[in-house]
Amino acid sequence: MKARIAVLVSGGGTNLQALIDAAGRGELPHGELALVVSNNENAYALERARRAGIPTAVCLRAKGESRADFEALLLETLRANDIQMLILAGFMAILSADFVARYPERIINVHPSLIPSFCGEGFYGLRVHHAALDYGVKVTGATVHYVNEIPDGGRIIAQKAVEVREDDTPESLQRRVMEQAEWILLPRAAETVAERITMEARV
Ligand code: GAR
Repeated sequence: MKARIAVLVSGGGTNLQALIDAAGRGELPHGELALVVSNNENAYALERARRAGIPTAVCLRAKGESRADFEALLLETLRANDIQMLILAGFMAILSADFVARYPERIINVHPSLIPSFCGEGFYGLRVHHAALDYGVKVTGATVHYVNEIPDGGRIIAQKAVEVREDDTPESLQRRVMEQAEWILLPRAAETVAERITMEARV
């Protein structure tokens, strides 16, 4: 039995690609990438999913629409696809306490810093690397953690440090953190959590 996984994305989807590639190499034996959900219909991640033959769904939050309505649609989509585990891979929306309580220790997120540095509301994507460079840290990295009701506040599953260079720009640092940390940590953490979920289902 494999855990049915939905990967939630908003943008380029390089972390999704790392998951697809790891699965292709047989490194996700306890999980199946069963669905990719985007809250942005133009996300290149959707194209990556289609190329890999993974079903896709778009759940948009229209201007003025409540988060509760958006999450109701998301939940319906996940339920219709029998999803047991969620991976937030560059998903640029914060999920409510009500939503995350439905998937306790079954939602993981990759964040591009060493939590608790440069995390929480407002710290996402390139902004995180801007903040790290502005502060002048010499080491940064990435974290994979469980998602709970506190933004970037759930239990840490894995972290990896990455050196900051004198001549780094936010873009060069983002790229190195992805290559040296995110793309390695996320598939490994996904397998660890998927294995636990399959074990729990057997009891
Ligand atoms: C990644 O660096 C990811 O860690 C970050 O956004 C980027 C998405 O890239 N996520 C966050 O900042 C969430 N707080 P991708 O679409 O190429 O995977």
